[in-house]
Amino acid sequence: MEIIIQPSAEDAAEMAERIISNLIITNPQAVIGLATGSTPLHLYRRLAAKGLDWSGITTFNLDEYLGVGAEHPQSYHAFMQENLFRHVNVDAKNVHLPDGMTPDPETHCHAYEEKIRAAGGIDLQLLGIGTDGHIGFNEPTSSLSSRTRIKTLTARTRRDNARFFGSEKDVPFHVITMGIGTILESRTALLLATGENKAEAVEGAVEGALTSMNPASALQLHRRAIICLDEAAASKLQRRDYYRWVFENKPPWQKIPPN
Ligand code: F6R
Repeated sequence: MEIIIQPSAEDAAEMAERIISNLIITNPQAVIGLATGSTPLHLYRRLAAKGLDWSGITTFNLDEYLGVGAEHPQSYHAFMQENLFRHVNVDAKNVHLPDGMTPDPETHCHAYEEKIRAAGGIDLQLLGIGTDGHIGFNEPTSSLSSRTRIKTLTARTRRDNARFFGSEKDVPFHVITMGIGTILESRTALLLATGENKAEAVEGAVEGALTSMNPASALQLHRRAIICLDEAAASKLQRRDYYRWVFENKPPWQKIPPN
């Protein structure tokens, strides 16, 4: 794992933006996995302002609420349109999200995995982290080799996400999410986490034991996981001085191109 600690949430978003921009510039046909939620908002704003060419880029989102249609304002389809897709020249036919209204979730989830495979796999998967350690909507006790499927949200996640729906009772119970096995197959995983409320989950994921009780700890098995944090999200890490030293002393060939 590479741990990058930045002074503020805005700086962490800038670092993530540099990593994704560099991928789009060096591989204009890249396949990028995307996340929703509050955390990537600064990042998407920066990416949108960058004016890069997305015409050859393919995207796969991590998840969608089951029973929520694309036109629903709280759907992840609507979130992505609003916060990224309508600001860049991505081709609609290259954009993929699970369909929350699918009449046959099992077949749909299987087909989603097939589409990822047919696209050549995911070059970079962007992730957030839940306060309970979930990545995608792989809640604690998710199989570490799971594939895209239906999951049931925990009470904690439904409480955390009530802010988007106005009230907790309106938050769906079920979601379609890429599995942990799907995420682990991406060529790079980029987890962005900001804020004090993520510090405990981040500490478990980075320095804790590999356990399905903290699904993000599965990234310890990933061949190239980058964990991009602000100071608050990094505040519970024991070895943060070491991570800072490593980052500041990267050999030139590993440096992330500046903006
Ligand atoms: C969203 C997703 C979730 C979020 C996580 C953090 O597509 O997969 O894992 O990344 O719930 O959400 P925020 O950023 O709202 O704290």
